[in-house]
Amino acid sequence: RAQAQENGTRFLFPEVEAGIDADHHVAEGYDVDVLLRWGDAVEAGAPEFDPANQTAAGQAKQFGYNNDYVGYIPLEGSDEHGLLVVNHEYTNAHLMFPGLVQIVDGKPVQGDLSAEQVDIEIAAHGGSIVEIMKVDGKWQVVKDSPYNRRITGTTPMIITGPAAGHDRLKTSVDATGTQAIGTLNNCAGGVTPWGTYLMAEENFHGYFSGTLPEGHAEAANYKRLGAPGNSYQWAGFHDRFDVAKEPNEMNRFGYIVEVDPMDPTSTPKKRTAMGRFKHEGAESIVAADGRVVLYTGDDERFDYVYKFVTAGTYNPDDRAANMDLLDEGTLYVARFEEDGSMEWLPLVHGEGPLTAENGFNSQADVMIETRRAGDLLGATKMDRPEDVEPNAANGKVYLMLTNNTRRTAEQIHAANPRASNAFGHIIEIAEEGGDFAATKGTWEVLLKCGDPSVAEVGATFSTATTENGWFGMPDNCAIDADGRLWVSTDGNNPTDTGRTDGLWAVETEGEGRGTSRLFYRVPVGAEMCGPVFTRNGETLFLAVQHPGDGGEDWDGHGRPSYYEDPATRWPDFNPNLPVRPSVVVVTKQGGGKIAV
Ligand code: FEO
Ligand code: CA
Ligand code: CA
Ligand code: CA
Repeated sequence: RAQAQENGTRFLFPEVEAGIDADHHVAEGYDVDVLLRWGDAVEAGAPEFDPANQTAAGQAKQFGYNNDYVGYIPLEGSDEHGLLVVNHEYTNAHLMFPGLVQIVDGKPVQGDLSAEQVDIEIAAHGGSIVEIMKVDGKWQVVKDSPYNRRITGTTPMIITGPAAGHDRLKTSVDATGTQAIGTLNNCAGGVTPWGTYLMAEENFHGYFSGTLPEGHAEAANYKRLGAPGNSYQWAGFHDRFDVAKEPNEMNRFGYIVEVDPMDPTSTPKKRTAMGRFKHEGAESIVAADGRVVLYTGDDERFDYVYKFVTAGTYNPDDRAANMDLLDEGTLYVARFEEDGSMEWLPLVHGEGPLTAENGFNSQADVMIETRRAGDLLGATKMDRPEDVEPNAANGKVYLMLTNNTRRTAEQIHAANPRASNAFGHIIEIAEEGGDFAATKGTWEVLLKCGDPSVAEVGATFSTATTENGWFGMPDNCAIDADGRLWVSTDGNNPTDTGRTDGLWAVETEGEGRGTSRLFYRVPVGAEMCGPVFTRNGETLFLAVQHPGDGGEDWDGHGRPSYYEDPATRWPDFNPNLPVRPSVVVVTKQGGGKIAV
């Protein structure tokens, strides 16, 4: 207590020392245990992880790569037994496949992937649903549970909502425009009040290659998305990723995917009513009138923040009645004014400029080209909107803006107040009348991030924030059982900030507002994702994404980081095993609420 009062916040824990090394670190007095690693068995019949002999069929039953979003869905209301839902955003071939990287003149050169390796990558994407329970104080996976399920880049999905069945979604293998194959680049996500799992499709453009036929109708659509991104070798093996051969396939990605984890045979649904862009996440809250409000960012420099308000209301007594709520409602895009007010602008066909004159012939077109609709409405161009999280405890909404080094001095706006914004900022929104479904609100900048000791950075952490407490590049966030904000980061490294990414506790209330404290930090090269607390506040799940990717110079070795010589071999530290993205679980030694 004395310590909490001393640091001026509601968070009671001894702060971790910021820094960089091969291991992860949690505050003293807490245990951090590895729960699920890339390659661990998920579905029954999964082979034991054997990275030198990995197969796509095996990977499709094993925990995927680069865990990002983590959600906890209680079974029978339990805080000690539930389903963990985890997104697998992307793959790092150079850290996954032995022999792929050769060192030529001291530099890593990555070879071509085989057909099997491409299929391993596709199977390592998507998500995992895993039954877990606490036994004798320790969380463990329930092996061979009927709930345990992998969702991958080839899992059959149904497309629903306004764009379903539209000509622009039809391909040579799906004349209906409703039968999608798989989900990709699932970054953050959400769990709905009715216990479904939302997977946000973010940088889907990266999987596509090739050139659209000359004068193709989708040219402007693809250009606005920076597509195709040519980041993977998949088009060489699967025609659907070649836009010359299958120009509409990309219109079937960029959505929020809803999965019912309670039914392992259920078909995931791509909910087009929530728009199509590079969705970061989809966190939700029930408004006072029972409608459900879902917040979602479009993570690109100068792109927008959105919220979706369902037409129907949430029925807490009838789960089945909620299962298609996400098909009908209004998608809004945010306009932030210089004076601290804001408006949520509806993206509705026929209203304002969203007409045939501007190429929007139906609501389907508005949902397929949501960014262009936002451009016409005059939405505010933000510094890479990542996680957006409503907080029921104080009625506010927290918006992570990770960075935007391309913003010029002329483009400064009160809501994006720094040119060349390398370290990002956090905005706090208050919806009008405390109503999350409101179409107006006010906002203020809670924090400008970065090192407060460097004057030109212009960071605004409180003076009570220690040398360990500041951070750059906010990405995900979570609200704990006591309504307190926790922020995880993506991009801190030796050259930018001299520290790894991690999880920081950020005070939003009272005199301590703007004070931040470091609770956990990741091993070198990793990004911190997925913070989520159980509702009793006693368990914290965290996702350590892409450990060992970059940060090679932390120990002075100066090595390129690749399968055979990674910057760390976390979490196993076994010379025969690669570095592995993993979900970890934090509990207090002796039990009880975290940071209390
Ligand atoms: Fe996948 Fe926006 O981070
Ligand atoms: Ca993210
Ligand atoms: Ca979150
Ligand atoms: Ca990020």
